[in-house]
Amino acid sequence: MPKNIPSKPLSGREGPAEGRDSGHLRREPRFVKDLPKGLLIKVRIWRLLFPFRWILSTWLWLISQILQGCSGVLWCLHVAIDYARLLCLDYTARPDDVFVCTYPRSGTTWLQMIVYQLTTQGSMDFRHIADVSPWFERAALNKRNFDALPSPRIFKSHLPHIWIPKRRCRYIYLARNGKDVAVSFYSFYKSHFRYKGTFQRFFARFMWGTVVWGSWFYHVSHWWRHRNDPNVLFLKYEDLVRDLEGALHKIIDFCELEIPAERLPVILHNCSFSFMKEHEEKFDFATEYMLEQGFTPGTFLRRGRIGDWSGELSDQEAARFQRKFDHTVGKLGLSFDDGCDAPPRDQHQE
Ligand code: A3P
Repeated sequence: MPKNIPSKPLSGREGPAEGRDSGHLRREPRFVKDLPKGLLIKVRIWRLLFPFRWILSTWLWLISQILQGCSGVLWCLHVAIDYARLLCLDYTARPDDVFVCTYPRSGTTWLQMIVYQLTTQGSMDFRHIADVSPWFERAALNKRNFDALPSPRIFKSHLPHIWIPKRRCRYIYLARNGKDVAVSFYSFYKSHFRYKGTFQRFFARFMWGTVVWGSWFYHVSHWWRHRNDPNVLFLKYEDLVRDLEGALHKIIDFCELEIPAERLPVILHNCSFSFMKEHEEKFDFATEYMLEQGFTPGTFLRRGRIGDWSGELSDQEAARFQRKFDHTVGKLGLSFDDGCDAPPRDQHQE
């Protein structure tokens, strides 16, 4: 969970700034004594307290750190409870469910896309891959309704083997060379988590397993131990890169799918790196997260015109606004172009 990191408290001993501040304090601007009495008192009190601001800042920083720690612990607790609820009570497995399991940055999205393409014979009719292949454990946070999904359902999961729901369904694990994972993960940390550290620092964390999703070594080795389970297919990213078609056939056999021969080239094309890169917005986690939060793509630069309100506000709402405006801002002599010559909403170009 991204957290707001409060800035460090003021030291109160910052040489030049301190000098500048006190100099600034000594010289009260001339307009100050012309201020209204109420405001003048406030300004004088603030000037009195100003030298002690770093004490207050330190205290507030401490309180904020404690609250941040507590909120982290409470957040973990709530996620653990919701995950236990999801696992034990809310998830009803279907025999044709497929879990795409990976350590992050190992080609998860690619494998999701491959399985989706195989089960739909090459359909691209989705807004985001997460709509058709949701992230299993994330449902503990976003309360996703899995029952509404058509079969076969494809779940993405980064859970280690110990935490994955053990049911009568299929698990495809995709492993990738840990060094490539570390490099890809570092780039993801920088682009999506605003990580500012060096690669060396990140790599040390990766080796210790103190990154999101823990130790790569633990994750891969535990799934590897289960590679011969009848409902587990263990694949390697590198094999997919070298021979995608061969990997598709392994998945087809494992999931007992029937793919018409003429659809295979389309599926191969749709699963290629270049095609997926071209449609990156359908795969990026940032888009998934924003869609989950209710974000509608393409709404940031909306229309950019005057008087767009005329199609949205009712006459009552407009009159209510006008009354308040006249009593507050309008009486000061400020006015705005209402743009009433803008066409009504139904004539707007969408
Ligand atoms: P790189 O960062 O090395 O490019 P995940 O989906 O688990 O986060 O994995 C992301 C990695 O899978 C990225 O690696 C990404 O480029 C790679 N990937 C995604 N689609 C791919 C494809 N069609 N072919 C090859 N690699 C792909």
